[in-house]
Order: sequence, then C-alpha cells, then structure tokens
Amino acid sequence: MQFPQELDPDKLPAHVAIIMDGNGRWAQQRGLPRPMGHQVGVESVQAVVRAARKLDLQVLTLYAFSTENWKRPPFEVNALMGLLKKYLLHELETMVANNVSLRCLGRKDRLPDDVRDILDKVIADTAGNDGLVFNLALNYGSRVEILDAVKTVAGQCANGELAADAITEELFAAHLYTGGLPDPDLLIRTGGEARLSNFLLWQASYAEICFVDTLWPDFREENLLDAIRVYQGRQRRFGMTGEQVRPA
Ligand code: IPE
Ligand code: IPE
Ligand code: MG
Repeated sequence: MQFPQELDPDKLPAHVAIIMDGNGRWAQQRGLPRPMGHQVGVESVQAVVRAARKLDLQVLTLYAFSTENWKRPPFEVNALMGLLKKYLLHELETMVANNVSLRCLGRKDRLPDDVRDILDKVIADTAGNDGLVFNLALNYGSRVEILDAVKTVAGQCANGELAADAITEELFAAHLYTGGLPDPDLLIRTGGEARLSNFLLWQASYAEICFVDTLWPDFREENLLDAIRVYQGRQRRFGMTGEQVRPA
C-alpha cells in the first residue's frame, strides 16, 4: 500500500496491542447468536494483521481469549476454540509466505489438544521468520503471567543462582511471555469499555491507550490507522515535562 499520507512514518508504534472486544454485542444487535460475532471478528483479525504487515510494524499482539473467558458458557467457549483452530489451519501458509512469526502469550496447557497441536505447528513453522511478530494472547492472564515470572525468579534466588539485589526491571521482564520484545506503544480496546481486563499489566505501563467504540467485527484497516493517528498526536512524556520531550 501507499503509506497513509497523514501518518508520520518515523513515529509509528513498534508494538500495537489490541483488546478485541464487542463480538457478542455485534451479533446480539443483529439478533444473531454470539459466536457469529466471533466468526466475523476473524475477518477483522485478518485485516489488522495485513495492515500491520503493510505498515511494517514490529509486533502486533491480539487478545483473543483470557484466563477469565473460561467462565463463559461451554457452547461459546467451544465455538471460540473451533474458530481458532480453523483460523490457524487457514492462515498457516499465509503466515509462512508473509514472513510473519506467530507466538502465543498464555498457558497453552489448558487449550484443547487439537488447538494446541495446530498452534504448536504454526509457531514452529514460522519460528524462522523475521518479519512481523504476531502474538496471540490465548488463555492469557497478566496476573498469572507475572506470578509465573515471580516463581521463576524466586526459584533462581532460592537455589543461589541469583541475588535478590540483582533483580532489575529488565531481568524480570525477560521472564514474561513477551520477553525480548518491546513493550506496547499503543494499546487499543474496541467495543467501548474502558478497562484492561487483565491484559499486559506490566508491559502497558507507558502504552498510549486508545478506547474506541467500534465493535471488533467492524474494525478494519482504517480504524487501525485512525488509532495510530491519535497515537501520533499524543505527547509521550515518560514522567518528564512537555518542554523536555518536545523536539527543539
Ligand atoms: C471479545 O468479544 C471476544 C472475546 C472476549 C473472546 P466479546 O465476546 O467479549 O463481546 P462482548 O463484549 O460480549 O460484546
Ligand atoms: C477481554 O474481553 C478479553 C478478550 C478480548 C479476549 P472481555 O469481554 O472478556 O472482558 P470483560 O469481561 O468485559 O472485562
Ligand atoms: Mg467483551
């Protein structure tokens, strides 16, 4: 694509993370069963991944299923798992061909065997790719992620490998699922709710947050570009004064 004229190519976020919300309401507004919203939401995922590649973003993280989402009715959970499997099967070749590297944020152990198998295959087959890093947050919970990292680090302290004083922010962050990746610069939540729902609580410390009313199944490339435009209009101060960060 031609670079969107009104975007500054030098101020693109390296990492965009999205809480894909509003599928159920989208379906209900149309008198459809909730899984229909998830099904159409897959088209939004495809559009956003394509747009992220075209913009040459470094990392895209999509929140697809939270540790809390298991509380939904089994019918809906099964529908989501089925869609996930279908999506991964369908996208494998495209991801390989487009130099996308898929990663999973979350504990894979609770996913159904067939979903985990295809997920592992896509991750393995795209591991050598060095283009867009595409994180799918699945059975993801930020608090579990932080606790797992705490346990690893505490274990290293207990067996004498690590001194407590040597624990730095960088060392700790390396044990999160996102270890080695930059923190999200822009965090978008669709669907009109203004909450984080246990998503990237550590990593989003300085993310610019954009809450948009668009329901996820309606979200397309132009909505992503809109959010990036908002992001580019923000002044990221990181604790400093506006004068300190404003370019001379
Ligand atoms: C987001 O849409 C998808 C998942 C959480 C899996 P929802 O299903 O939460 O849609 P709403 O918020 O009920 O409309
Ligand atoms: C957050 O959406 C999780 C995902 C988008 C996967 P939810 O719809 O589950 O969040 P709450 O329950 O409204 O906070
Ligand atoms: Mg929701």
